[in-house]
Formats: sequence, structure tokens, C-alpha cells
Amino acid sequence: PQLWVISPLVNIENMSSQVESGVLLEKVGRVGVITMNRPKVLNALNLTMIRQIYPQLKKWDGDSETDMVIIKGTGGKAFCAGGDIRADTGKAGSSLSEIFFREEYILNNAIGTCRKPYIAIIDGITMGGGVGLSVHGRFRVATEKTMFAMPETAIGLFPDVGGGHFLPRLRGKLGLFLALTGFRLKGRDVMRAGVATHFVESKKVPEMENELVDLKSPSTENISKLLDSYQDQSQLDAEKPFVLESHISDIDRLFSSSSVEGIVGNLRADGSEFANKQLETLSKMSPTSLKITHKQLQYGASLSLQDVLVMEYRLSQACMRGCDFYEGVRAVLVDKDQNPKWNPSSLEEVSDQSVEKCFSSLGQKDLIL
Ligand SMILES: *[C@@H]1O[C@H](CO)[C@@H](O)[C@H](O)[C@H]1NC(C)=O
Ligand SMILES: *[C@@H]1O[C@H](CO)[C@@H](O)[C@H](O)[C@H]1NC(C)=O
Repeated sequence: PQLWVISPLVNIENMSSQVESGVLLEKVGRVGVITMNRPKVLNALNLTMIRQIYPQLKKWDGDSETDMVIIKGTGGKAFCAGGDIRADTGKAGSSLSEIFFREEYILNNAIGTCRKPYIAIIDGITMGGGVGLSVHGRFRVATEKTMFAMPETAIGLFPDVGGGHFLPRLRGKLGLFLALTGFRLKGRDVMRAGVATHFVESKKVPEMENELVDLKSPSTENISKLLDSYQDQSQLDAEKPFVLESHISDIDRLFSSSSVEGIVGNLRADGSEFANKQLETLSKMSPTSLKITHKQLQYGASLSLQDVLVMEYRLSQACMRGCDFYEGVRAVLVDKDQNPKWNPSSLEEVSDQSVEKCFSSLGQKDLIL
């Protein structure tokens, strides 16, 4: 296919006749500001944008005139709803995805290793590729408009962009649950889950940004204190419990298994309304994606971000060699019948060897960080 957008929320009809620059890069005082600027497609991240952000971030990272980096999105709806790896007509899809994932993960690593405080204001939809642009940075500020998800198992992929690093580090089995089911977290819950470091009401964000810019040679601690003070002034939904609060022990128990079949077995045996709902969700996902994701998080729990990204690059290329990704994009984004025909179609048919093979070295084509 010529059209690949890794976000179930992006309307691909809006992709044509884009005139804006996909990303704005500017210096405000001593702050480097990255603004995702494709509001019509929920600020989806494409290769051009990656190639603009990466060198600028590296420059700011090593620049004595820059105190911090802020990344945000325009349009009021999204921070960034995912990756956009549309192939230009005529270009071979395979080589584009080889390049796209490589450069995207290199950018994710640059964010994770940035020495300047990196503050992602995730005021809106933040999924997939958008998570990779935020979660590895030192500070992530969620608002009541934040909607977080890693929905990749629904399109025959896996939660990449370093998902194998941050997800297994969330409490208990929460990360594995989010990874397998694509569960959407909203607002304050994004912070409660540990994906965001702060929660600040959306209307307070412009003032918070101004105060960040006004800080004189700030330490990380100064920035942290400032964000804390904005969080303290943001009482919205403070009384509302965490959406998964009453299920967190169920999640830890039901999602503790050395295999996806084991998890499905736990859910079946449990029979509660919550368990049945998760079973139904998992039954719609690519069986291959579920098994890859389970192993990805298992390995990722004890790997550095760099080693996780090398692993994920191998997985991304394995998914491009398989067929579920193309079928997932067709069913969710192109034909929109929401009825993908996965191959293999059941967990039992996905062998351990076929999963393990996805993790094997690409030799000369491995990602080098
Ligand atoms: C990325 O998006 C920008 C803005 O819409 C556009 O100008 C650019 O051509 C796109 N790049 C690719 C590779 O699609
Ligand atoms: C910034 O933090 C340092 C310690 O890291 C502290 O000494 C200083 O007073 C703080 N500055 C402001 C403006 O809060």
C-alpha cells in the first residue's frame, strides 16, 4: 500500500494538500521550542519532521545558550496521534519503512539521552509515535485533554518507540495490560499511571510556558518545582479515582503469565465482567502482535533504552516482512471495515519459533545507536 499511517485516529483523507510546515522549531529566550504543526492530521509525525527535529534537538542539547527544550502541538486536539509513514508515490514501501523506523528510533534515543531538561506538553491525543516524542524526556505534562494509548496490536504492529522500555517499568502488570489491549488513558490518569510526570489544567499551560521561559539558568530541580506548583493549582478531577483503581490487582493477577495463552486462560477462568471485556478486546488484536509484544516487554524489562530500540527495530522490520501490518492498516485506516483477517488467525497457530525469529539480528541492517 502507498498509504501507511500508524494511528487509528488519523483521517487519511485529510492528508492531501498540506501547506503548513509539519513542525516549527524556534528559540524563545533560552528555550528550544518544538511545535508539532499538522493539526488536520492530529500532528502525525512523518519522516520530514523527524529529519527537522533530530538535528535541531542535538544542536540545542550541546548548546550553552539553551537551558531546556519544550515540545508541544498546535490545533488544540492532539500532541501527536502517531507516526505517518506514507510512501511517496513511486517509492518502494519497504525501503521507506526501513528508513522511517530507523530515524524515528534514533530520535527517540536522542530524547531519552538529552542532557537539557526536555518538557513534553502532551495537551491532547498522544499515541504511538507521539508517545515516543514525549515519554523518554525528563518531564511530561498531561492535561485534562490528554488521551494516551499504545494501540499498535490492533494494526498488526507492537508498541514500539521505546514501549519495551517504559511499559514494563510502570507498576505491576499495568504496562503489559496497556500494551496488549491498547487501553486508552485520559487526563489525570495519564499521570497516575506514571506515563506523565505532571498534571496541569490546559488553560494554565500558556502561563506555565511563560514562566518556564522566564526562569534564569534553571536547574532541573527549579523546573520540577515550577511544574509542581502548576500541578498544585490544578484540582480538576483530583477527587475522581484512577479509572483502573478497582482493577489494578486483577490486572496484576490476570496478566501475570509467561505466555499470552496463559493470560487468555486466566481471563477465561476469571469470568468477571472486567476479564470478559479484556478477552473481547484481545480477540480483535493480531495474534502475532500479541505474542511479539508479550516477549518485547519481557525482554525490555531488563534492557537499556538503547538495547530496547535495537530490539524494536528488528521487530519493526519483521512486522514489515509479515502480513498483519498491511491487513491492519487496510481494515482500520483504508477500508475502515474494522474487520482484519489476521494470519495466523489464532494464538495457537503462532509458534514460539516464529516469534523468536522476529527478534533475530538484521546483521548489517541492525540499528546502531
Ligand atoms: C510531512 O508533512 C509535511 C507537512 O504536512 C509535508 O510538507 C511533508 O511533505 C511531509 N513529508 C512526507 C515524507 O510525507
Ligand atoms: C534553583 O535551584 C537551585 C538548587 O538547584 C537553588 O539554589 C536556587 O535558589 C533555585 N532558583 C530559583 C529561582 O528557585
